[in-house]
Amino acid sequence: MQTEKKRIMSGMRPTGKLHIGHYMGVLTNWIKFQDGYKCYFAVADWHALTTKYDRTEDLRQNITDLVIDWIASGIDPEKSVIYVQSLIPETAELHLLLSMITPQNWVERDPTLKDMIKALRGNKEEETEDTSAIVSYGLMGYPVLQTADILQFNASLVPVGKDQLAHLEISRDIARRFNHIYKTDFFIEPQPKLTEIPMLKGIDGQKMGKSFDNDIKISDSEEDTAKKIMRAITDRSRIKRTDPGHPDLCEVVCPYYEIFADEQTVKKQRYECENAIRGCADCKRELADIINDRFRNVRQKRKELEADPDYFHEVIKTGSEQARKSVCDTLRYVKNIMQMY
Ligand code: TRP
Ligand code: SF4
Repeated sequence: MQTEKKRIMSGMRPTGKLHIGHYMGVLTNWIKFQDGYKCYFAVADWHALTTKYDRTEDLRQNITDLVIDWIASGIDPEKSVIYVQSLIPETAELHLLLSMITPQNWVERDPTLKDMIKALRGNKEEETEDTSAIVSYGLMGYPVLQTADILQFNASLVPVGKDQLAHLEISRDIARRFNHIYKTDFFIEPQPKLTEIPMLKGIDGQKMGKSFDNDIKISDSEEDTAKKIMRAITDRSRIKRTDPGHPDLCEVVCPYYEIFADEQTVKKQRYECENAIRGCADCKRELADIINDRFRNVRQKRKELEADPDYFHEVIKTGSEQARKSVCDTLRYVKNIMQMY
C-alpha cells in the first residue's frame, strides 16, 4: 500500500530578485525536500501587500522574477507545486475563519511582526505625506494569513529561517485552538524546519539584503559578481601584502570559501593567507571564480526561462489550480466542522 507523502509548505514574498544567501539558506533546503515530501511553494503576493500596498507597480515583475529564480535554482514544477497566493481566493476565506478564533494579543505579541512594524515606522519618520508608514489591519493579520497558507494543506513541516519562528508558533497555537474549540484533530500542528547552512553575510559584513546594497544576486552577471566580491571586507589588520593574514578575522571572504569551496581549496587558501603567500585581491578573484562556477548553470537556466514567458505562466497556472483543489477540500472540511450554513 502506498502511504501518502507528508506535506511541506513554504513561501516567499515577491519583493525582488533573490540573492545567493537565499539560494544557500533557503532554496537548497527546499530542493532537498522535493523527492521525499509533497511540497507546496507559495509566491506570497498578499503578504507583500501588507507593507507595499502603495507600490504595486513592481508586483507582477517581482512575481515573475521570483518564480524564475526558484525554477532556475532547481525547484522542479514536475515535483513541487508552485503557486501564487492570490490565485486561490479560498485562502482568504480560511484566513477570515481562522481570524475569528485568534486572540488579538497573540498577533500583537508576535516579535517578528513587531520588528516589521518598527522597520516600517522607522523608515518613514520624517515623511508625513507618505502613507506607507501605516500599520494596516491587513498587516496585523500577517501571521494569521500565513497560518492559512500552511494549514490549508495540512502541512506538517515548514522550512523557514529563524525570523519566521514566531509566526510559526502562532500557527501551531491556532491549529491547536481550532482543534480544541471544535473538538477535532483535523489540523496538524506545523513544525519549523530550520536551515542548516548559516545565513551568508553581505559583502560589507552586515546581514545580506538588497536594501543594503551588499548582496550578490543569483541573476547577477559574472562581471558584477566579481566586482562585488572585490569590494568585500577582509582582515582589517592586514595592511600590506606582506603582512600575514588572519582568516578567522576575515569575516566575509573566509566564510564564503567555507561555503562554496571544497576542503582542499579552503586549506590552501587559509595557509597562503596566514603565510602571506597570497594577496587579498588574488584571494577574492579566486572566490569570484568559484562562485561564478557554482551559479553558471543556474544563471543559464534563468536566461532560458526569461526567454520563455509562456512556460512559467503555464507553471504558475497549473500549480495554482492544483493547489486550489486541496485548499477547497480543506475549506469544505473546516466549514463543516464549524457548522457553517
Ligand atoms: N512570511 C514569509 C517570509 O517573509 C513568507 C511566507 C508567506 C511563508 N506564507 C508562508 C513562509 C507560509 C512559510 C509558510 O519569508
Ligand atoms: Fe581574507 Fe583572503 Fe585576504 Fe586572507 S588573503 S585576509 S582570507 S581575503
